[in-house]
Amino acid sequence: MTLKVKRLFPEDLPLLEECAELERRFLPEEAWSVESFRSESAKENGYVLAVFDEDKTKTKNIIGCLTASKILDEGELTTIVVAEQYRNKGAGRQLLQALLKMTGKISLFLEVRESSSAREFYRKNGFTEIGKRKNFYRNPEEDAILMKLSFKEEVC
Ligand SMILES: CC(C)(COP(=O)(O)OP(=O)(O)OC[C@H]1O[C@@H](n2cnc3c(N)ncnc32)[C@H](O)[C@@H]1OP(=O)(O)O)[C@@H](O)C(=O)NCCC(=O)NCCS
Repeated sequence: MTLKVKRLFPEDLPLLEECAELERRFLPEEAWSVESFRSESAKENGYVLAVFDEDKTKTKNIIGCLTASKILDEGELTTIVVAEQYRNKGAGRQLLQALLKMTGKISLFLEVRESSSAREFYRKNGFTEIGKRKNFYRNPEEDAILMKLSFKEEVC
């Protein structure tokens, strides 16, 4: 598997549609619409990154995507998803590393469901837990854990 990350822009509409489809399948409770992906990709400080498996020859070859935004030296990671069959092969980490290369030195924040196994993924990538928001999520109702990656603790 050869992984490659690309930042998407509004003109990459078919790829933005693939990202929306990926979220509908693998992150249905927080899936963004195609329009949300498009408008984020149009912002100077909005990031939509997709990771591809270059060894795949099919047209539909996005295996994961990430959305984030940046204000001054702080960023927020809003979503990250990797297709189930490609997990634990480094695609999620590559997306994070590519984001931090593009944003420069920032502190990166995120919220994650308390029960989500993604908390371990974030910990393994240098994030620490800094707080909790009570009943932040709906369907089902659940607390959010706030996590932070300081720019000194870059992804290894
Ligand atoms: C979270 C997610 C994006 C991780 O992507 P991934 O490509 O599987 O992650 P990587 O292969 O880069 O893993 C990096 C490290 O995190 C660990 N890791 C990844 N997912 C993990 C999980 N669910 N539980 C425990 N550890 C995990 C890996 O084992 C690896 O550890 P290592 O450094 O010791 O080898 C993916 O599991 C996913 O899409 N989950 C569903 C969507 C979701 O919950 N997103 C987060 C909320 S927005």
